[in-house]
Amino acid sequence: MTVVGIVPAGGSGERLGADRPKAFVVCAGRPMVEWSLEALSSACSRIVVAAPPSHVRPGWVEGGPSRSASVRNALAAAPEATVVVVHDAARPLVTRDLVARCLHNLSGVDGVIAASPVSDTIHVSSAEHLIEHTPDRATLWAAHTPQVFRADVLRRALEDGDSATDEAALVAAAGGTVRLIEGPSDNIKVTTPTDLRLAEALLRDRC
Ligand code: CTP
Ligand code: MG
Repeated sequence: MTVVGIVPAGGSGERLGADRPKAFVVCAGRPMVEWSLEALSSACSRIVVAAPPSHVRPGWVEGGPSRSASVRNALAAAPEATVVVVHDAARPLVTRDLVARCLHNLSGVDGVIAASPVSDTIHVSSAEHLIEHTPDRATLWAAHTPQVFRADVLRRALEDGDSATDEAALVAAAGGTVRLIEGPSDNIKVTTPTDLRLAEALLRDRC
C-alpha cells in the first residue's frame, strides 16, 4: 500500500479576507498549511500540496479553479498512490491519530471520512428563504477532512464528477462506499477571522 497525502491549499480565502491566500496565513506561529503537513507526514510516503501559483514549492502542484480541480491536479502528480489521504489546509487542528484512525477503518470500503453528527437542526430552504423541509437530524453528519480513499476509486469519481465541496460526495455519487467516523469536535475549518482566532487558541492550548 502506497499512501500519498493530498492537501488542497489552492483557495484564496475570500471569507477570511487576509493579505495572502488562507493556507499561508500565520496561525499559532506557522503558515496554516504546515500544521497539516506535520500531522500527515508519518502516515504518507509523500504529500502533494495544491497551492496558488504564487505559492507553489518544489514537489507541489498548482491548484485549479475549484477545490475538486485542485485535488485532481494533485492526484495526477501522484500516479504511485494506491491510497490517498485528502486533507484541507484550512483544518490545522488535524492530528496524527485522526489520520491513522481513518486509514485503519478503510478495510471493506472505498473511503473513510472524519465527520461529526450535526448538533443544529438543518432546514432545506427555497430560493425565497422559506423552509421546504427539515431532514431528520439523527441522519445528518457534517463532513470534515481527513478523507481517505482507495486511489483508483477517487480517480474514477473525479473523472465523472465535476465539482463538489468534498471528495466523499463524488465517490458516493459514483457508487462507492464511504464510511463516516466521528472526529474530534475541535477539528474545525478556518473560514472566517473568528475561526482563525479559535484555531490559534486551540493550537496554543496543545503546546
Ligand atoms: N481549495 C483549493 N482550490 C480551490 C478552492 C479551495 O485547493 N480552488 C482548498 C482551500 O485552500 C482550502 C480547502 O480547499 O484548504 C477548503 O476550501 P475553503 O475553506 O472554501 O477555502 P477557500 O476557497 O480558500 O476560502 P473562500 O471560499 O472563503 O475563498
Ligand atoms: Mg472556497
